[in-house]
Order: sequence, then structure tokens, then C-alpha cells
Amino acid sequence: MSTKTESWGSRVGLILAMAGNAVGLGNFLRFPVQAVQNGGGAFIIPYLVCFLVMGIPLLFIEWSSGRFGGRSGNHSTPYILDSMAKGRLWKYIGVFGIFTNIAVAAYYCYIESWTMSYVYHSIVGTFSDMSQAQVAGFFESYTDIAESTTGIPYEAVIFYIICLLLNTFILSKGLGGIEKVAKIGMPLLISFGVILAIRGLTLGTSGASDIFPDANAWDGLNFLWTPQFDSLTSPKVWLAAAGQIFFTLSVGMGTIHCYAAYLKSKDDIALNAVSAGFMNEFVEVVLGSLIVIPIAAGYLGLDWVIQNAGFGMAFQTMPYLFQQWGSSLAIIAGVCWFGLLFFAGITSSLAMGTPWMGFMKDEFNWSKNKGAWSFGGLVLIMGLPTVIFYKEGLFDQYDYWAGTVSLVVFAFLETVLFSYIFGIKKGWAEINSGADIKIPRIYKYIILIVTPSLLAWVLISSIPDWI
Ligand code: PHE
Repeated sequence: MSTKTESWGSRVGLILAMAGNAVGLGNFLRFPVQAVQNGGGAFIIPYLVCFLVMGIPLLFIEWSSGRFGGRSGNHSTPYILDSMAKGRLWKYIGVFGIFTNIAVAAYYCYIESWTMSYVYHSIVGTFSDMSQAQVAGFFESYTDIAESTTGIPYEAVIFYIICLLLNTFILSKGLGGIEKVAKIGMPLLISFGVILAIRGLTLGTSGASDIFPDANAWDGLNFLWTPQFDSLTSPKVWLAAAGQIFFTLSVGMGTIHCYAAYLKSKDDIALNAVSAGFMNEFVEVVLGSLIVIPIAAGYLGLDWVIQNAGFGMAFQTMPYLFQQWGSSLAIIAGVCWFGLLFFAGITSSLAMGTPWMGFMKDEFNWSKNKGAWSFGGLVLIMGLPTVIFYKEGLFDQYDYWAGTVSLVVFAFLETVLFSYIFGIKKGWAEINSGADIKIPRIYKYIILIVTPSLLAWVLISSIPDWI
């Protein structure tokens, strides 16, 4: 335990940092792909239900646990969980959360580094006059370290290291650094997103493409937005929806606890948590669905999008599609799109460093510098294999085990801790203390019964996939 020395500069700064933590690559790259792979409109209802009965309750739990632990001077998940229960066990569970962060940061920063490289290539005009196959080939070559022919030898490794250095440097500046990046990055991200979404919407119904004259941007939107009720009985769609809600809200990893530990003890958490959560959903559901899918569907057709949906889709298609708008607009669009992804990524990857840094401070009283550089080093060690063996599918393994399963396990355990060990009575009082809104009482019972039962169900039904 150590004394509290830092706190958030302002409420706006806090909300932007928390929203920046949540709004990430998941909103723009993972959400559209999950939605398309799970039947478009079929995905939306389970997704919104999971937001209300798992996402919001977990936000309340994590914000209030963080503020509670922070009151006695703790900055990290192991110490925060430990302060809520007697017994070492919960401290170790907090440590498990720290490793999840390092493993997620390892592959997450890799995608973040693609966005930096693609901003560079958009500006220098690498993609001008490339055919769609060439743009897709560029990505293949970029991610194939041994065979890379992008013009810069070992480019993927170099940008990965630059990206880690930048993250480490900002983290070494502490909370103030994170707040500053969020205050600059979030407004830029939203502005870039709105510009691109307007373009997505105005591509219209006339075939924009010479290659696929029947392609239609609105087909993409209709596919995403026409609810299909028959999917409500499919466990696979529910699992995907729950997984996406965890990932996008950044719950189940301990980053929210660590941010909330810097709140003052009388600060509101109820309204703050709901605001950051809804801001994330607005960016994901509105902006996230108005860019990649309609633009790609507008040029290449919906069938193509359905067949090719994947993490790399945005890198393999967007630079080519932007060229159709003329060479200067292509530069602007490329900078907006990959710049948006960069800001979305960095405000989230910074959050992943805070549980480790907080723990090193709580346990060994390490300085911010030491905490940040050791985090960067660990991520580099964990991450280099995903960079080098991307083609062999290691990346997807990280996303599944660290970015999906571990979040659900952690979320289940912390819900049990909050409701049954810390106790729902104390927990509910904690959530409501200092609250600027009145939370419907039904949430007390949702947190007590519905959220842990659903989490247990999600875990049990995904066991067959583990074997
Ligand atoms: N929520 C982030 C996204 O949508 C990812 C993330 C997960 C960030 C967990 C921090 C902690 O991309």
C-alpha cells in the first residue's frame, strides 16, 4: 500500500480517459466483423441485451470496486480486490488480471502499429494506383516478416517497436499523460469517424463501383440493422455477443478498477460509468457500423464482405476504396481512417499498462518510469512471437484465450466477490454513494443473480470449444 499522490485533473478528463479506454480497435475492427459473422441483424438483439444485463452491471462493479480500494491508497487490481475480501486468493486473481492485460497488449499493440504504418503509407501515396489485389497483397507482405516486400525491411517489427516506445513514454508520464492523450485523441477520433460515416452513408444506392455495378452501401447497413429474432435461440450468437461486450467495454481486465482508484471518495461513479459506457456504445454501434461495412459493401458487394470479414479486412480494402475518391481525397481519407484507429488503439493500450504499473507501485513502490519501461519490455517479449508468427495464426490464439476467455473468467470471479463476499448490501451502497443519478433498484438484483448466472452460463457453454 502506498499513499495516493495523483488524481484525475477534471471530470471531463476522467470521462474521456475512461471512454478512451473502452473505445478502441474493438469498436471499429472487431464489432463489424463479429456482427457480420453472426448474421448481421441477428447479432444486434443479443448484443444489446448483454450490454444491459452484463455490461452495465460490470461497469458499476468495477468503478465502485476501484473507488473503494483507492480510498485506502491502493492503485492496482490485486490490492483493490484484496481490500474487499479477507484472504490471499483475491490478490492472486488480481495478478491473473495483470497477465491478461500484458497478453492482450501484446497483440493489440501489433494492430495499433499497423495503423501507424498505414498513416505513413497513406501520406506518401504507397497505395495510389494499386489494384484491390495489390492493396490486399501489400497487407499479406507486411505481415509476412520473412517475405516482406513493402519497401522497408522488417517494417512490421520496426513499427511495432516504435508503437511500444510511444506507449511506454506516455505511461511514464503517469495519469496526466493518459488524460492528455485522451483529451486530444477522443475529439479527433469522433470527428474523423463522423466524416467517414457521412461518406459511407452518401455512397448511396447507385453502384459506386466499376467492378461490381450492383454493389450498394445500403445493403451493408440493412444487413446489420434488420433485426432477426430467430437468432435468439442460438448459443453461439449469444457467446459472440457477450464476448464483444466484454472486450469493447474493457471489463474483466482490471483497467477500470485502476482508473477508478484515482477518484476522490465522494466522486460520483454511477453517472460516470453509465456515460462512459453509452459513449462507447454510440461509437461502436453508430460509427462502428457506418464505416467499413457500408463502404466495402458499396464497392465490393455484400457477398464479398460476408466472405472476407476478418480483422485485416479494413487494411486490405479501405486504402483501395479511398483511391476511388481521387488522389488528394484518398490521402485525407487514409489519414482520417488510420488516424482514427490509431487514437482508438492508443487510448486503450495505455489503459492496459496501468494494472502492472499500479501493482509495481503498491508492492515494491516502483517509480512510474520503472513501472512503464518494465511493462514495455514485457509486452515486447510477449508480443514479438505474434508479430513473427502472425501468419501461423498465433494472433487469433491470443485474441481467444487472453482477449475473450480470460475476461469472462475474471468478470465471473469479481462478480462473485462483489455480490457474495464483499456483500451486495455494502456493494449496492458503494455504487450509490455520491451518485449523481438514481439507479433503478432492479440493478441490485441483476448484479446479485442475473449477471453471475449469465457469466457462468457463458463460461460453461464455451468449454466444448476449449478442448
Ligand atoms: N475496449 C478496448 C477495445 O474495444 C479493448 C480493451 C480491452 C482495452 C480491455 C482495455 C482493456 O478495443
